[in-house]
Amino acid sequence: MILNKNKLNDYKIPELKTAINPVKCDVALFPLFDDKKLVQEIKEIDRRLNGRISSAIKQKFIKGDLKSFKLLTIPGGKYFKAVLLAGAGKKEDFNTDVLYSIISNASRYIRDSDHTTFAVWPEHFSLNGIREEYAAYAIAKASILGLYTFNQKSNKEGIKEIKSILLITKNSSSAKNAVDKAKKICEATIYTRDLVNTCSRIVNPEFLVKEAKKLGGKNVKVEIISQEQLKKKGFNGILEVGGGSQYKPALIIMKYLPSGKPVAKPTVGLVGKGVTFDSGGLNLKPMGYIEDMRMDMGGAAVVLSLFKHIGIIKPKFAIMAAVPVCENMVSSRSYRPGDIIRIYNGKTVEVHNTDAEGRIIMADALSFISEQKPEVIIDIATLTGAMMVALGYSMAGLFSNCAKLAEQVKVAAVESHEKVWEMPLVQEHRESVEGTIGDLKNLGKDKAMAGASTAAAFLENFVNNISWVHLDIAGSVWRPETRDHTTQYATGFGTDLLLNFLAIYKPKGKK
Ligand code: BES
Ligand code: MN
Ligand code: ZN
Repeated sequence: MILNKNKLNDYKIPELKTAINPVKCDVALFPLFDDKKLVQEIKEIDRRLNGRISSAIKQKFIKGDLKSFKLLTIPGGKYFKAVLLAGAGKKEDFNTDVLYSIISNASRYIRDSDHTTFAVWPEHFSLNGIREEYAAYAIAKASILGLYTFNQKSNKEGIKEIKSILLITKNSSSAKNAVDKAKKICEATIYTRDLVNTCSRIVNPEFLVKEAKKLGGKNVKVEIISQEQLKKKGFNGILEVGGGSQYKPALIIMKYLPSGKPVAKPTVGLVGKGVTFDSGGLNLKPMGYIEDMRMDMGGAAVVLSLFKHIGIIKPKFAIMAAVPVCENMVSSRSYRPGDIIRIYNGKTVEVHNTDAEGRIIMADALSFISEQKPEVIIDIATLTGAMMVALGYSMAGLFSNCAKLAEQVKVAAVESHEKVWEMPLVQEHRESVEGTIGDLKNLGKDKAMAGASTAAAFLENFVNNISWVHLDIAGSVWRPETRDHTTQYATGFGTDLLLNFLAIYKPKGKK
């Protein structure tokens, strides 16, 4: 094997410290709004610099525009070697998006200017209804995630790194709690990113099975439905889609049991699409569409990460996940257009295009989860290119058969700062995937029309009327270029969101 299977990445999260008073570090970071008002701390530094900062502002060397930076050294500075003024835009436009943007970009600016530590005052970002504690939380998340790198270069010399970040605040203990929680959540997102970024020769279906098995313990039970058992049990969707690969497909079942003891029914059911490489199959993807298809297990990675990091939130209810893992490849054993596949719940699916494979394996997994009768089901999948076309990179499409559940997921998304946008799922979409000789077909009637909605309508056939949310993360799982706290390539999207959802979800019948 080419790379290191045991250690996917070597990004080290900077140490996050909190203090009431300044402690020695390289850079002091201040936002500069368009009103150019200097905060108290910077006024003092300015005085020591004989007004260098204020005169630079007066002469318009420093503007308050977003993503503009000015680093000024402080010769003989008592605490700091330099000051970074980060343009913060108009004060009235300041919100959490701007906060994440300033901090992530400033963190990288400081790192790339060869500094290793910096200080920031959460209070300076506490305006327009943003509480100081939330600001501390967001500062920690934006810097940890924004500094993330995935580096497979052989020459590791000259790698720049932020070693520690200091948050200065009078509320040091509540800031410490916020920062500690942020760090744990970021670890979960980073695990997802590492799994998705790693090449598909390493992160193949068998690797994900091994990774899942490692998660077993007192509260987490892992069971693997192997290729042989898939055959016996009738999970033909996963078998067929995975049939062309040298790696065996499987269905990973994970249970979170708060008391460690079995329960009659799980409260929440989760499903994550785990196509470790989507070549398109015999309907092979062309150049321009195939290169990044190792990210097609982004949903599976989120669900694995949730179980790995469930200790952060310790829900009081049982959770069950079904994660289908396989590779969509070209071979003489590949499934073909014209095939008809009987899914686990008995419904038959006409294969019109082998590149619409996600919905076929999700159908098996959703049928299995529905059979367990959870209160709610959430699935997360890189399902359609159409979703990416509709919403771009920064939000996921949300489809649901239950307004209340949709609302709960939207609330969770606000806190996690991962955006979702509700999409329609109507009768026309349902009719579009009705089959001719089978029950359903895996392609909408008018191929390119409402691609994300017809895929969702297909999935709806397998949730057995249980309250359900489908998150199509085809656009949000991956970024061609770094933007704010979502760094280039895998974003880890959905990890924080679903951890939050599980943290706030109240089982029905309980107040
Ligand atoms: N994995 C892809 C969807 C995808 C595309 C994810 C781009 C991320 C970025 C999925 O399996 C797929 O190929 N969908 C097809 C469906 C079509 C054949 C109906 C698509 O969207 O083109
Ligand atoms: Mn595909
Ligand atoms: Zn796919």
